[in-house]
Amino acid sequence: MDRLARTTFMLLLAGIVASCGAGEEEEVPAEVQEAVIAIGSSASDALLHTLMANLTAAMQENGAAGAIEFCSTSASGLTAEVVREVGVDMKRTSLRYRNPANAPDEQEIKALRHFQSVLSETGQLPGPLVLKAGRDEYRFYRPLTLAPPCLRCHGSAGEVDPTVQAILDERYPDDMATGYSAGDFRGVIRVSVPADRIGPT
Ligand code: HEC
Repeated sequence: MDRLARTTFMLLLAGIVASCGAGEEEEVPAEVQEAVIAIGSSASDALLHTLMANLTAAMQENGAAGAIEFCSTSASGLTAEVVREVGVDMKRTSLRYRNPANAPDEQEIKALRHFQSVLSETGQLPGPLVLKAGRDEYRFYRPLTLAPPCLRCHGSAGEVDPTVQAILDERYPDDMATGYSAGDFRGVIRVSVPADRIGPT
């Protein structure tokens, strides 16, 4: 190898090592962030809207105990339906999850901790977070807080109806999602945006 070839080779190698090391911490350019936020916001709006409309209807019909039937059996099905409609994958997740099927993966844990630490440092939840996940995917993270009606199923002992608690005990023996107060940070909606949805930047 002559000197030039060697230098080129070393530079290439350094580039590869640097990009491996950076991994998902890679900086996301502002215009990509903007595009991911636009897609993520509208997809998560659609999910929240569908879940809230169905939850409210179930509560009006059968009270909290009936609504828990809805959350337990329909929340994941409805999520899958909205995912098909909007064409991007979505998940609700939390560090204190109720259903182990909603447990966070490694990057989701990082995102959840980010929201929690900014909240505890500043007293306010930051806006959505965009991270790169692998070569062809960006992820949009939208923080969720609890409103008073959520406490019927996620509140502390006095707020959760005994019938609801009995169902929770039976279906989710390792439930971590009670004991919250209104305004608490509960978790995130994670939206996966494929890089080819962003277009050239
Ligand atoms: C009627 C009871 C009920 C109400 C009201 C309710 N939830 Fe839940 N929630 C559940 C159940 C049951 C699950 C587990 C669903 C499953 O098995 O996938 C759940 C799961 C979740 C999850 C997914 C992560 C996990 O812990 O498994 C989030 C996030 C969440 N709820 C947020 C909220 C918010 C925010 C509100 C208020 C807007 C709310 N919930 C209101 C019963 C309820």
